[in-house]
Amino acid sequence: MKNYKDKNLSVRVRTEDLLSRMTIEEKIGQLNQLSAKLSDADEMRKNAVQGLVSSRVMASTAFAGNEEQEITGFDEINLLQELALNQSRLGIPLMDGWDIVHGQRTIFPLPLAQAAGWAPELVQRAAEIAALETAEWGVRWTFAPMLDIARDPRWGRIVEGFGEDPYLCAQMAAASVKGFQGESLSDKRRIAACAKHYIGYGMSCGGRDYSACDCSEHELRNTYLPPFKAAVEAGAATVMASFNEIGGEPVTGSKHLLTDILKGELGFQGFVVSDWYAIHQLINQGVAENRKEAAYIAFDAGVDMDMLDLCYSEHLPALIEEGRISKERLDDAVRRILEVKFRLGLFDDPYVDPNASQRIRDEHMEFAKVFAEKCMVLLKNENNVLPLPKSGRKIAVIGPLAEAKRALMGSWTQNKSDEGIQTIVEGVQAAAPEAEIITASSLYDEMLMAAQRAEMVVLVLGESDRRNGEHACIADIELPVGQLELLRAVRRLGKPVVSVICSGRPLVLEEVDHLSDAVLYAWHSGHQTGPAAAEILFGNVNPSGKLPVTFPRTTGQIPIYYNHKPNARQIDEYYYPESTDYFDTTGKPMYPFGYGLSYTTFAYSGLTIDKEKITADEVQTVRVTVTNTGNMEGDEIVQCYLRDCSSALTRPLKELKGFQRIHLAPGASQEVVFTLDREKLGYYGKGGKFCVEPGKFMVYTGGNCLTEMCTQFEIVK
Ligand code: GLC
Repeated sequence: MKNYKDKNLSVRVRTEDLLSRMTIEEKIGQLNQLSAKLSDADEMRKNAVQGLVSSRVMASTAFAGNEEQEITGFDEINLLQELALNQSRLGIPLMDGWDIVHGQRTIFPLPLAQAAGWAPELVQRAAEIAALETAEWGVRWTFAPMLDIARDPRWGRIVEGFGEDPYLCAQMAAASVKGFQGESLSDKRRIAACAKHYIGYGMSCGGRDYSACDCSEHELRNTYLPPFKAAVEAGAATVMASFNEIGGEPVTGSKHLLTDILKGELGFQGFVVSDWYAIHQLINQGVAENRKEAAYIAFDAGVDMDMLDLCYSEHLPALIEEGRISKERLDDAVRRILEVKFRLGLFDDPYVDPNASQRIRDEHMEFAKVFAEKCMVLLKNENNVLPLPKSGRKIAVIGPLAEAKRALMGSWTQNKSDEGIQTIVEGVQAAAPEAEIITASSLYDEMLMAAQRAEMVVLVLGESDRRNGEHACIADIELPVGQLELLRAVRRLGKPVVSVICSGRPLVLEEVDHLSDAVLYAWHSGHQTGPAAAEILFGNVNPSGKLPVTFPRTTGQIPIYYNHKPNARQIDEYYYPESTDYFDTTGKPMYPFGYGLSYTTFAYSGLTIDKEKITADEVQTVRVTVTNTGNMEGDEIVQCYLRDCSSALTRPLKELKGFQRIHLAPGASQEVVFTLDREKLGYYGKGGKFCVEPGKFMVYTGGNCLTEMCTQFEIVK
């Protein structure tokens, strides 16, 4: 007699056997996710024994990105698993989930900063480390990666995703999933990923969180879907449905988006979890008159697990009794959830070793530093004021974030301790022990006095971690109040000024750029923000990051992104045509997508394509030679863009189709090769069908999206 407890049987056989033994109530219990809130601990234990809870979300508020969480510790996980396995009728383990977005104990750069590294292999390594540290805590599921394409820096959650470009985001999506999940989920160092928030949340109107947003299916498929397609193809075990609507239909209640496209067209085999209270929120959105209708709409649409609002546990029994929800659909949802639990090995060993390392490992911190160094972006370096001299000059390191700790970690960190965080000042002191450093970081008059006594000034500005993340939108993306005034005062002293910006989101930096000799965007890069920034400031590391999102010149320019559709009146490949743009600013951003400087220089030459004409099913090969023309070794992120010049539906002026981070010694050259296959040459055209159309294509290669180095080819019938 087959038995689901037999670990030698396949996941599918064990799942089907268990499913056949479950009552309706036990099946509905598997669809129910509750908070790991401390105050709910006793109730939770009863639920575990009765098989009424499937999972806990390790958050006690809906704003886990920035609020302290009052949740149970990892010892409670063992206790609950013990109750579930040995006291409930069928012994089905729990599968707790946690927002481990950019590290658990070791905090890495925010995902937007990670994207600035243009290094999927580093994103994957960071996810691996986060998975290990999370699994050691006893949690085997993360609500990450966040894959929302975002083009509005007023939206606090722009920091949580990988920027404005579908291709770059898709590469990071696959890397994250592979890092979290590894080769097999049964590996106890791995955790289930959750591609979120499917789909279109980043369009939040006006950058207001949770606000309505909309786009055509054409735009949805060509811009917002690619990262989720990449995550599903990489094997993402779960997907989280988003709060927002598309086309008047809340995604949480959209059978077309969740079942037809995600589970049908993309072939997603895992399960869909709702976002926090999102099923109940269908009432707010006006499409459900009550919780029972909300439960019906969401479950019928394809949401398998209910995060927190108890709509399923309260109303699915009646909906099944009434025949409105079929037993087939119920079994489909439960099957999807059980399969992930079996794949994670939770039925066989759900316990966490209470003696597992709770410390941050040195090798993880070392990697975090290297990663942060790769993500930081040098935006300006006039007269080579950087690198700073390591001795012989008095250097003031001042500013409201010069000695900040928590702010550097960024939003969405569950590890609220200051253990292991080094400030910018501490980083500077370690990177240049011979340098004469003067610091001040609390009173503005003391900061000015320090600057006055120094020969050069490093001014550390930026945002609190609390000004980013969920429920953290701002109407004006200037620096926080008072910081520009401080910069103006420092500038009036007439000394070289290096501005270091520690922020999560893009900020308006036009005046900062004007008043500074050099600008380094250090982001909120986690534990190693301070040391990494200092290594770059003193030239121990050559900066190489490139922007994954356009930096507007003013808040009023938003939305401004490189891969926009052509202007009907006039074509301008450098964002927007001056003649039809705002009267009171230029049509250009402050810093374009893909932009970032180095301490050396790189030259591009010899752009060629293999064939001037290809058919739609052939591959085009692009070659370009890059030379380090400076006197310092460094990385260059070589980018390849494509423009489809004649198509049945409009196409963006440029689209990133490839990138490679290469390392060159001074004077060295390397040929970089890009292949443009059907996936890269085509788009979702009329009727939502993927197609490659005949016509002229322009190919660009260079160090940012404004490159003018291009050639062309034709696709022939
Ligand atoms: C929040 C967020 C989501 C997060 C979930 C659990 O509201 O929207 O990203 O994973 O709730 O904390």
